[in-house]
Amino acid sequence: MHIFMLKLEKTKRDSIKQFFLDLFYIMRHTHTRLGIFSITKKIIILMMTSYLIVGALFYQYTQKVSFPSLLSHQEQQMDSIALFTTAEISHIPELNSDRLNYVKRKILENSHIFNIFISSHSISVGENLAVAPNMHLYYLKKQPLLAKKYRFEDGYFIIYFKADQYVQEVQGIVNTAYLTFMLMFITLLVVAIVLKLTLLPFTQLSSLMTSIDYNAPVSYSLPKVSSKDERYDLISAFKTLSFKQQEYANRLNDLNLSLEDKIYKKTLQLQELNDSLEHKIKNEVTQNRQKDKILSEQSRFAALGEMIGNIAHQWRQPLSAISTATGNAKIENMLGIATKESLDDTFNRIDEYIQYLSDTIDDFRNYFKKDKKKKAYYIDEILKTALSISKGSLNDIRIIQDKVNFKIKLIGYPSELMQVLINIFNNAKDILEEKDLAKKYLLISMSKTSTHIIIKVYDNAGGISKDHLSSIFDPYFTTKHKAQGTGIGLYMSKEMIEKHMKGSLTASNRSFDVDGTEYIGACFTIALPYN
Ligand SMILES: Nc1ncnc2c1ncn2[C@@H]1O[C@H](COP(=O)(O)OP(=O)(O)OP(=O)(O)O)[C@@H](O)[C@H]1O
Ligand SMILES: [Mg+2]
Repeated sequence: MHIFMLKLEKTKRDSIKQFFLDLFYIMRHTHTRLGIFSITKKIIILMMTSYLIVGALFYQYTQKVSFPSLLSHQEQQMDSIALFTTAEISHIPELNSDRLNYVKRKILENSHIFNIFISSHSISVGENLAVAPNMHLYYLKKQPLLAKKYRFEDGYFIIYFKADQYVQEVQGIVNTAYLTFMLMFITLLVVAIVLKLTLLPFTQLSSLMTSIDYNAPVSYSLPKVSSKDERYDLISAFKTLSFKQQEYANRLNDLNLSLEDKIYKKTLQLQELNDSLEHKIKNEVTQNRQKDKILSEQSRFAALGEMIGNIAHQWRQPLSAISTATGNAKIENMLGIATKESLDDTFNRIDEYIQYLSDTIDDFRNYFKKDKKKKAYYIDEILKTALSISKGSLNDIRIIQDKVNFKIKLIGYPSELMQVLINIFNNAKDILEEKDLAKKYLLISMSKTSTHIIIKVYDNAGGISKDHLSSIFDPYFTTKHKAQGTGIGLYMSKEMIEKHMKGSLTASNRSFDVDGTEYIGACFTIALPYN
């Protein structure tokens, strides 16, 4: 505002232009602050601004418009008086002091004229200010007595005259301004009070709206308005809105309650279902474990059965040799031809056979012993033992071993691995016996990758039919007669290799070459991790 007032001192055009520029500047910079003011404050500010503008324009008017025009009016008056006076004086043939005084008195009858002088020389205006006893001091200071000098034949005729008409007019304008400003101020006050009172319901309503609990029953009292104006409309609208809101809140509450109830019931049902499911799962798990146990037992019994066959087969030859040896010794003894040497020889041979029998039994016992803990073993040794156990039943099958002397130490369950190998050998034997082949082969090869030892067992029985290939590892899958097979051999083998030893057991149909002839059959591949 300060800048604004200062700038208005410039020329009229410039100052008006500057005024609008400043107003725009003020509005731009105060807009954000004005934004937080209440409507009453905003209106008061607006009114005050417009009052200031009016005041400033009024000031401009008194300064620049009224003063010069008033002056010229007064001067015109004075000119006419002067003209009349000089004419009067000029007509007097002899200008004595009496005459002059008469004229002076006459002229001074004009209330605007303060004093007149006849001077022989020109005097500057304002020289005789001190002789203005009844002059308003302010006026003297602010504005010198208006003076005009007119030349006549014998000197100068100087008229001082009062500018009180001007003073009065200016005073009048100033008084009007005061009055206007007083009125404006009173209007401002009245407007502020009226606005405050008018907007009171809005204020009350907004504080009510923020403090209200919409979930509780309607218990608040709304602001009262006597006239049916916009405030009344707004309050009525709010009333309707709050009732609706409460209705919705009630509905929501009901919905919530019913939902909670539903959720509770569903949770109970779910809980029951969960309990029964848990129970079922537990049962299933137990049953599964039992099944597994039974399967494992069955597999062991099947292996045991096969083994007893193998033992019988392997013992037949040494037993008959022992029987022959003892029979011969008996006859020699009866005939009296038995010498100490021949008897020693017979006993030694029997000892050897017994040792052989004992070894076979040890092998079988070791094989049948279930591994409880992992232990270190040499893969080639296990293969050798498995072959020696199965050898008895492999009869006319030629066993070809290809690079099987890998001296590699593995950590695991050697007797389980042996059981797997014997299973595979027995399967090959079964299928080879079934087929009427001129030559029967069992080819065993060993190889090594950076992570695994791989044992492959081939036979030349023609392979596994495509339909069976995906089922042979399933429990109880067998193509054999009931008396011959249970169908758990490969299932258990896969379990042991994959679950216990973290290896893999797979089957495919492959061809292989023996002495330039190609043979085809099943190929079982065991891969075991080492290191
Ligand atoms: N070398 C093979 N050649 C062709 N088929 C085979 C061979 N080995 C296994 N099979 C097929 O896989 C089936 C399942 O073999 P698995 O060893 O699991 O059971 P099984 O030998 O029938 O009975 P057991 O439980 O007594 O071992 C066999 O019945 C047979 O049909
Ligand atoms: Mg089998």
